[in-house]
Formats: sequence, C-alpha cells, structure tokens
Amino acid sequence: MKKALLLSLTLAAASLMQAQETAAVRFANRVYSLSGKPFMHKLVCEGCEVERIEKLPEGLQLLSRPNYKYLYGVAPKAGKYTYTVHLSNGQQQNVTLVVQDELPQPTPFMGILTWNAFDEHISNDIILKISDALVNFGLRDAGYRYMCIDDKWAEHDRKEGHLNPVSSKFPDLKKLTDSVHSKGLKIGIYSDAGDYTCSGAQPGSYSMERTDATDFVNWGFDLLKYDFCNAIGGDTPAEAELAYHSMGRALDNAMTSAGKNPNDFLFYMCEWGGRKPWEWAANTGASCWRATADTRDYWSDTTYNGGVLQNIGVYKEIWPYTGVNRWNDADMLVVGLHGTGYSSNDGGSKESPKPGLTQDEYRTNFALWCMWSSPLTLSNNITNLDGKPNSLTGKEVTNTLYQEDLDIIRNADLIALDQDPLGQCAEPVIDHPEYIVFQKDLANGDVAFSITNLSGNEKQISLDFSTLSALQKGKEYSVKDLWNGKTDNYNSNSTFTATVPVHGTAVYRMTLKK
Ligand code: GAL
Repeated sequence: MKKALLLSLTLAAASLMQAQETAAVRFANRVYSLSGKPFMHKLVCEGCEVERIEKLPEGLQLLSRPNYKYLYGVAPKAGKYTYTVHLSNGQQQNVTLVVQDELPQPTPFMGILTWNAFDEHISNDIILKISDALVNFGLRDAGYRYMCIDDKWAEHDRKEGHLNPVSSKFPDLKKLTDSVHSKGLKIGIYSDAGDYTCSGAQPGSYSMERTDATDFVNWGFDLLKYDFCNAIGGDTPAEAELAYHSMGRALDNAMTSAGKNPNDFLFYMCEWGGRKPWEWAANTGASCWRATADTRDYWSDTTYNGGVLQNIGVYKEIWPYTGVNRWNDADMLVVGLHGTGYSSNDGGSKESPKPGLTQDEYRTNFALWCMWSSPLTLSNNITNLDGKPNSLTGKEVTNTLYQEDLDIIRNADLIALDQDPLGQCAEPVIDHPEYIVFQKDLANGDVAFSITNLSGNEKQISLDFSTLSALQKGKEYSVKDLWNGKTDNYNSNSTFTATVPVHGTAVYRMTLKK
C-alpha cells in the first residue's frame, strides 16, 4: 500500500516536472499603465493553463479566450502592484504592474531616423531640412515628432573624455536641438553599449555612461538610440541587461540633475532581439527595444533576416510581450526608400540599386507595423516630393518621395491603430502558408484585423469572423476598410472575403453597432 502511494507520488512529481519543462510561459512580467485607463495583459502559456491570479489589483478581472487568459479592466491609482499568476503545471510567476500618472512612452514613439537614406551624409543642415519637411508635409501633425540622428555624428576619438561631434557636420549641437525644438519637434541621438558603434566610426558609451548621458541631456536631446555592437561588457542576456541598465540609470540621473523630468527622455534599446529583450528590457529603463534584425528594403531576406517576411515570423511569437511603455520595435519603416537606401539596400548599391519593395509591400510594411504597435520611424528622404526642387543638394535628387508614399505614411486610420492607448500587439489568428491574419484589441472595444497575402498571386481570401476571438458573438459590426475608408455592416457570425494583391495587406477596423 505504502509502496503504491510512493510510486504514484513519484509519477505525479515526474509528470509535473515534465509539464513544467514542456510548458512555455509567454507573457511580460513588468507591465505599465496610466492610472484610470483601460489596461489589458495577455497571459499566454503553451502547454499549461492560467488557474488563478493572486493579489489581483482592484478594477481588473481575469477573462478567457480559446487560446489564453487575460487581465482586463481599468488601471488602479498610481502605485506599484504585484500579482501572482498561478499556472496549472504548478508554476507561478510574479508580475509587477507600474501605474503612473505619466509615462515616458504611453504610445509608441513616431519619428524619422537618418541611417537608411543618409548614412554618413548627415549634418546640421540636413537635420534642419528633414525637420522642415516633417512640418511641411504634415508629418509632424500626423504624429512623427522625433527627428533622430543615427550613427556617424561624432569623431573616431573622444576629446577630453567626451564624445566629440564632427565639427564640419555638427558645429553646435545645442543650437541644433534648440532649432529643432522650435519647430515643435523632438530630437534624438545615437550611441552604443560597446566601445565602438556599429559603423566603428565613433566610440560607444561603455563605462562612459554618466559623462555621455549628461552631455546628451545638456545638449538638449530627448531620445537616445542605444546600439549593441562591440559589446565588450559581454553579450549574454544578463550582461546586455547590465549594460543597458547602466545607461538607463545614467539618463535618469542626468535628467534629474538638469532639473528635467526623466519621463521626458526616451531610452530606445537597439539590441536586435537576439537576447529576447522583451523578457528583460523593461528592467533597464528602456521603454522600447528593437525586436528584429535591421529591416531591409526586401520582402524576404534570409541573409540578414531583415525582410518584412522575417519580421512577420518574429511578431508571430512575441506579440504577448508588447504593452504600454514596453514596445517591441520592428525597426525603421522602409516605405519610400525604393531601393535607394544604404545598408537597407545591401546587395544593391547607390549606382545600381535594387528596386526595393513594391508599393503593395510598402503598404504591408506600414499596416503590420501599425497592427503590432511598433514605434513608427520613417527612414526615407522625405525632402524630395516628386523629385521637385527642395532636394538636399539643390541639384541632385536622390530617393524621390512620391505622393503614394506620403499617402501610406500619413494614413490617419492606420496611425490610430498604432497609437491605440490599450497598447496591444496584434496576434496571429490564422497562419496559413499563403496568408496570415492578425487581430488587434483596441481601447474603445473596437477590433482591427489584417489579412496579408504571402503568396505570389493576387488572392481572394475568406475569413470566418468566428476566428476573431476578440469579437462579441452574434453581434452587428461596421467594418471599415482602412485603405479606402469604405464601410460595410457584418454580423460576427458571418464570413468576410477580401481580394488581396501579391504581398499586400487588407486591414479593417470593426466597431460594434449600437
Ligand atoms: C545597427 C543598427 C542600425 C543602425 C546601424 C548604425 O546595428 O541596427 O539601425 O543604427 O547600426 O551603424
């Protein structure tokens, strides 16, 4: 009798251990919300179930969908809350919920980075011209507020211990940040957690975090993109976390010492996703982090893993980790580069560029980045509409911006998906070899969905609305096509069909009818 009991206990323990090993917990353990705002936290566990939540903050409840449970409700008053998620395999995980009245990045930041279109050809003048174009083309008012200087702004060596701006490019950074600010924009700068940046052209900030953070703040910058090349502090996830944490703390201290609000500075990690930053980056003070390799101007790029298709592969896995003030960044938009970028065009060249994405693929680039709530960072030369005179050189027009590119990047309905305050990344609901469907929860209870045609032919794709688990069953919805604004009514029991071009994306917003 005793022997039998021992055997069954041993077997139970073994199967529990096996369940723990096979179960994969995929949710964030540090999440944020503004107080009094709608809050959602998806608790995905493959091979196990969420059984209960201990110390659930007031105002939140545990709800179920076919593939996961999630917390939903109105965030409590400002404070730090810890709840424990109990799983069916005996595991438990603590989650810290930070509720504040303001946050550095309540919605993903939007702006432009100089790297793809300009590489080393950056200067005070160019930054001012791009800033003017942001204003003149209505991009600032559409939300693109951060004018970000990327790599190659400083000399190869420090001067008296400080990063030393190349004087022919940037004679006076303080004056530059002042004039960018005067246009109603913010301005970002770039450094690296190693001893040199990725280009090798300038030093990184490793072990110089305090000095550099103080300089960035005193020069008047509002954002730091912080890369991870030449990481002499080690490149395991724990070592990366340490290196990023040093800079996060230095930036906070520099802001406080300058009498500024640390929430007004964005710390943008650029570790490229290899060390799963979505699991730890929120501990470093960063409010967004690159989740993918550099996005190239290609549909599929298996050499660098940088095609739009490769990014889809990443977001299929990491979607539960995105949230308010913790954004997974899919890297710069390539819309409008038309094959003329520098490293975004690797494999082509300035002289014989590859064509870049098709216009339908650019639409997919934009629509999916918005569905995923990625920061939206333009990377094309926005100063040359139709190749007309306001080119940077006055003579040579490179990387013409076309009206159809502007129409994509200014699409207010799509930007509203990206900037939705619930902060949810769209989740894949159909993953078919020829197409992928994502659904996205929105703050006002609306639901967005996208259908991306992965095949080489235009396709009619049908979707049974019952696969969208965020919809209320048997209810009437209006369905708005976010490319052309057309609206139709559907019952959530019905089937929907869209004709989607090769590598294109159809995208819709559904609103419950009163
Ligand atoms: C890469 C980074 C790019 C760009 C480049 C500059 O590591 O991913 O976005 O910043 O470095 O050298």
